[in-house]
Amino acid sequence: MSDIRVISPEELQKQQVFIRQIRQFYEQRCAESAPLAYVRTYGCQQNVADSERMKGLLAQMGFGFTETPEQADFILFNTCAVREHAQDRVFGNVGALKALKRRKPHLLIALCGCMVQQEHVAEKIYKSYPFVGLVFGTHVQHRLPELMAGVLLGKRRKVEIPSCDGVIAEGIPTVRDGGFKAFVSIMYGCNNFCTYCIVPYVRGRERSRDPEMILAEVRELAEQGYKEITLLGQNVNSYGKGEAHGVTFPELLRRVNDIPGDFVIRFMTSHPKDATKELFDTIARCEKVSRHFHLPFQSGSNRILKEMNRRYTREQYLDLIAYARRVVPGITFTSDVIVGFPGEQREDFEQTLSLIREVGFASLFTFIFSPREGTPAAKMEDPIPAETKSAWFSEMTALQEEISSERLSAVVGTTQRALLEAQAGGFLEARLADNSIVRVQGDPARIGEFVQVRITGARSYILTGEIEK
Ligand code: SAM
Ligand code: SF4
Ligand code: F3S
Repeated sequence: MSDIRVISPEELQKQQVFIRQIRQFYEQRCAESAPLAYVRTYGCQQNVADSERMKGLLAQMGFGFTETPEQADFILFNTCAVREHAQDRVFGNVGALKALKRRKPHLLIALCGCMVQQEHVAEKIYKSYPFVGLVFGTHVQHRLPELMAGVLLGKRRKVEIPSCDGVIAEGIPTVRDGGFKAFVSIMYGCNNFCTYCIVPYVRGRERSRDPEMILAEVRELAEQGYKEITLLGQNVNSYGKGEAHGVTFPELLRRVNDIPGDFVIRFMTSHPKDATKELFDTIARCEKVSRHFHLPFQSGSNRILKEMNRRYTREQYLDLIAYARRVVPGITFTSDVIVGFPGEQREDFEQTLSLIREVGFASLFTFIFSPREGTPAAKMEDPIPAETKSAWFSEMTALQEEISSERLSAVVGTTQRALLEAQAGGFLEARLADNSIVRVQGDPARIGEFVQVRITGARSYILTGEIEK
């Protein structure tokens, strides 16, 4: 039996009492200026979206925001546990706050997110970092005001990491960081239990938001002029599974596509076992949906895919790609891949290389296997030396660089629609539909606009072009 909880509006309303208490607390400390919060987010887009909601709550509490920890009255690290390296960075950066807390005793330092949802990590932080005042898990973020009030008014450190299957809390205000780009969470958690992955343990069971809530949020974003809307979930293809409303992911995409406005729809992440032909047929019919698809394959070896509990074969993956290319001409793919999974042999790795060659990805996110405590793969025998894994990793990235560079050369001479995203050096950066970046000359005031770009060159993995209109 699952114990997923939908937080009622009344329950959320209770946070208003704590919001007022915190406002008063800081007004009494300093009536002239608003307290400042520094929020640092590690990990994936779901964490970015969570931080945006927590920033919404902080704004209600009267906080302004700073990019400088030294100026902050409240520091929040929203952490990631997906690889050891991600955790080590957090430990290092938290350690560096000790001196700051000594200089500013009133500073409240808090840690939340996937890393601290692991009991052994929360314990380590509580014991080894006494200057951290608040530690809370992924299922209580909507209670941020209450948790902060407990520490600030109760003057006691607090650790709040209930283990449950997860919650859905609607109606939390959001402070978005992305300018004209917005993330919209459509579901939370993961049920897949890939044997290497910590996410299902720290994010709870899969649960989907009500489609009407999602559509209302997208409608509002479109009316506000957002140009890119990314639907988020660990496995968006299983959106709606087990829910009474019966809206599947392709149906949700169709409904989002029907919302008036000039915006691009992206989504991530997809799982090959749940990405259906119907989904690609839907993309073909929905003009707002980006012709770029992120479809992690993790390994090209059927033996390793089985050990990873991915529940598809190399052949099924390749079939899906071939079908997508048939029905959505010009679609491009990016992917995630892991090298050095326990027991991986040279011949397994070569299968991965051959899959990379066969698909011709636009780009790849490549990772060396990192054992995560509590996952089945962490207990598997792993005789391959770290140096071999590093050498394989370099071989794989060199192959992908070659492919990416060939693909870039092939688009020179074409004209494509692109979104002007940012200023970098003396250039503007525009993102093409396939997610690649092209450098153009232009007026920074146009950032956030769609333009037609003629691609004029490809050098060192960077495209250059000219704005046509
Ligand atoms: N839900 C998505 C999926 O299924 O592809 C993304 C999950 S995870 C946040 C992003 C990527 O991290 C995964 O696709 C995988 O390649 C990588 N990853 C997850 N656990 C890992 C581990 N223990 N070691 C190395 N890479 C890992
Ligand atoms: Fe992790 Fe697999 Fe779930 Fe992705 S689908 S979050 S890799 S368990
Ligand atoms: Fe990391 Fe949690 Fe995302 S483990 S990758 S922040 S879901």
